[in-house]
Amino acid sequence: MLSSIENHIHVEVKKNYPEAELPTFIVEEKTTDLLIMVYKSSRAMYYFGLGLMNKTFEHFNSSAEIL
Ligand code: HEM
Repeated sequence: MLSSIENHIHVEVKKNYPEAELPTFIVEEKTTDLLIMVYKSSRAMYYFGLGLMNKTFEHFNSSAEIL
């Protein structure tokens, strides 16, 4: 889910809202228990992103350590 934000979710958002200013998430590494993504945005909403990630894990009854 989180690794698909860039190429699936936000791509669809952009189609519906062309004026949306979306961040970029570059997946650097992905294994079964590790995901390294680099967040880039002109708006520096990394705490908002952290909140969305925490809630994504909560929604899927899962847990993770986000560093
Ligand atoms: C179905 C799920 C999602 C939808 C529909 C969605 C949609 C959107 C929309 C509409 C915006 C606002 C763009 C604007 O104001 O111009 C946004 C921004 C953002 N999204 Fe998503 N998003 C989703 C999931 C996520 C998740 C899981 C993350 C986790 C990291 C994320 C990270 C962000 C961040 C950090 C921003 C703030 C803009 C910025 O940092 O430049 N999104 N998203």
